[in-house]
Amino acid sequence: MPSLELTPQLFAIFAQLVEEQCGLHYSLNERSLFESKLSAQAAEQGFESLLDYYYRLRYDDPGGVEKRALVQALVVHETYLFREIGPLETLCDTYLIEVIAERGRARVWSAACSTGEEPTTLAMLLARRGLLDKIDLVASDISAAAVAKARSGVFGRRALRDGYPTELAARYVEQGPAGTRVSPSIVAAIRYFNVNLLDEAAVRELGTFDAILCRNVLIYFRDAQIVRVVSMLRDQITPRGVILVGVSESLMRFGTSLSCEERGGAFFYRSMP
Ligand SMILES: C[S@@+](CC[C@H](N)C(=O)[O-])C[C@H]1O[C@@H](n2cnc3c(N)ncnc32)[C@H](O)[C@@H]1O
Repeated sequence: MPSLELTPQLFAIFAQLVEEQCGLHYSLNERSLFESKLSAQAAEQGFESLLDYYYRLRYDDPGGVEKRALVQALVVHETYLFREIGPLETLCDTYLIEVIAERGRARVWSAACSTGEEPTTLAMLLARRGLLDKIDLVASDISAAAVAKARSGVFGRRALRDGYPTELAARYVEQGPAGTRVSPSIVAAIRYFNVNLLDEAAVRELGTFDAILCRNVLIYFRDAQIVRVVSMLRDQITPRGVILVGVSESLMRFGTSLSCEERGGAFFYRSMP
C-alpha cells in the first residue's frame, strides 16, 4: 500500500540525509512537522512512498537537484526589516567606520540572508551614514527561491514589524499594494549569491570579510555542524574581522578559537591571535 507515513526508521535516515545536506537538525519531537513538510514535497515530486523518495534522493539524484528542492521546502525563512538592528548599528559605528577610515573600504557578508531583509537593513544604516559606497556587501542563502526574492527588493507585508525605526523607513522604504519596496539604490548595493554554508569551496570563493553576519541560522544546527561552519567562517574573516550571531545565540561553548567582545550590548566574535 502506498504510504507517506514517516516511520521512526524513515525519520532517522531522512533526518540524517537532511543534516548532511544543509546542517538542519530535526529531533524526534519534531517528527510530525518534518513528516508534513517531507510528505508534501515527496507527493509534489510524484512519489507514493517515502522510501522510494529516499532512494531517489540518496542514490539517484544527479547534481543534487532533488536534495536541493527538499532543503528549500524545509528551511525556515523567518526574517524582517530592522530585525536585531542594535548590533548592526554598533557594527557600523564602532567598527566598519574605523576599517573604512583606515583602508578606504570594507567587506561584509550576510551569510544566511533569507529573503534579504538583513543585508537590506545594514545597507540602509550604511547609506544613512554616507558609507554605502565604501562597502562591498555580499549576501547569500542556501535557498535559491529566497535569494531570487531578495534580489527583487520587494518584501512581504510582514517585513515591517511594530517598533521599526520610522525615520529610516521613511527614507528608504515604501509600502504599497504590491508589498514593501526598498529604494533601488539600496537593493543595487547588495550582491546576492546562492551558497550552502556547509559547502567549503563555495564559502571560500566569496573571499575574506571584515564582518560576517551569521544570525538566526545556527540555532537549527547541532554542535558538530556549528563547529564546522564557525571554523569555516573564521577562515573567511580578516585578522581583525568579526563574526556576529543572533542576539539569542552564543558561540562561547565551542572551544577557545574565538574571543568574544561586548560593545554597546552587541557581541563580536574574533579569531584568537
Ligand atoms: C531564520 S532565517 C535568518 C535570516 C536572517 N539572518 C535573520 O537573522 O533575520 C535562516 C536562513 O538560513 C538559511 N539556511 C539554513 N541552512 C543553511 C545553510 N546550510 N547554508 C546557508 N543558509 C542556510 C535558511 O534558508 C533561512 O533563509
